[in-house]
Amino acid sequence: MPLILAIESSCDETAAAISKNGNILSNVIATQAIHQQYGGVVPELASRAHMQHIVPVVADACHKAGVELKEVDAFAFTQSPGLIGALMVGAQFAKSLAMATGKPLIAVHHMQAHVLANLIEEPRPAFPFLCLTVSGGHTQIVVCHSPYHMEVIGETIDDAVGEAFDKTAKLLGLPYPGGPLIDRHAQNGNPKAFQFPEPKTDGLNFSFSGIKTAVLYFLSNAGKSYTFKEQFTATEEEKAAFIEQHLADICASVQHRLVHYLIKQLKKAADQTGIREICIAGGVSANSGLRKALQDAGASYGWNTYTPAFQYCTDNAAMIAITAHYKYIAGDFAGMDITPAARSQW
Ligand code: KG4
Ligand code: ZN
Repeated sequence: MPLILAIESSCDETAAAISKNGNILSNVIATQAIHQQYGGVVPELASRAHMQHIVPVVADACHKAGVELKEVDAFAFTQSPGLIGALMVGAQFAKSLAMATGKPLIAVHHMQAHVLANLIEEPRPAFPFLCLTVSGGHTQIVVCHSPYHMEVIGETIDDAVGEAFDKTAKLLGLPYPGGPLIDRHAQNGNPKAFQFPEPKTDGLNFSFSGIKTAVLYFLSNAGKSYTFKEQFTATEEEKAAFIEQHLADICASVQHRLVHYLIKQLKKAADQTGIREICIAGGVSANSGLRKALQDAGASYGWNTYTPAFQYCTDNAAMIAITAHYKYIAGDFAGMDITPAARSQW
């Protein structure tokens, strides 16, 4: 029954969690507000903020769990993918703790951890399950055969769905990260008010660049067209007035289109694989429209559906801890010469 301290620092959240025998005892997250004024994550500033936050965040995670560092059986960290400077802070901190205490080090893949967030709490999906992993950097459909064997069967060929949310929000003048704000405004809007075009992709892959462009032209035309032809017919004042008047309907319509497309591809994957245990994971799985659509699809298609609690959807260290728990059991430890990677295959 390993006691694990896990660190997550791949993007703009500095996070630490403690798990004991796969149960989460603490889960601490420091969000970096500094990026808001720049409309996106600035890598250099992220690394510096991780340096500031990592000691208090780890101390707080230990304090909340009632655990002292010397009791910890293994130190886990996010090794890949992510911003390289940000990853280095967490990796180096975990290495130093492992070295100082003589305990093993465990390297965790961030996207695998998002999938395994579904194993943190009851009810847990049975293997094999399908997972739609949707975040700011990824959109994937994964078959999870076991905690050690996952297979990507579909992914985006351009933007991630989180980017589609965030870029739409930016065009609407909302601050970064805009996904949660679109979600909030959408709750007061009509999802059928505007008909944004649904992407056409073969197989189980995704594409989101078309929707993003359609939103751009739609706003530039003050709602008169979704296409290039009549673009820039509206003045800045007309555009601003149109957004102000229709914000909730625009958010609801874009969200509806994105969610409908995600569920359509997930249905194809369920039909092709015959798997009926269906999960979502990643930051966008916090979206209330997607959570509701998954439940509805489950009821219509006879799926058992699973959604992690909100705090385990967006970046967190509890998901790193649960993944490390399984790696500990398998004896899958990292050497002290391991280095983080901005990108990596599973
Ligand atoms: O998994 P995550 O925290 O970080 C990455 O690994 O990328 O995902 C962040 C993404 C952002 O694009 C953010 O806007 C989106 O998740 N997001 C949401 C919601 N909450 C977070 N998108 C739509 N609705 C939400 N409620
Ligand atoms: Zn993530």
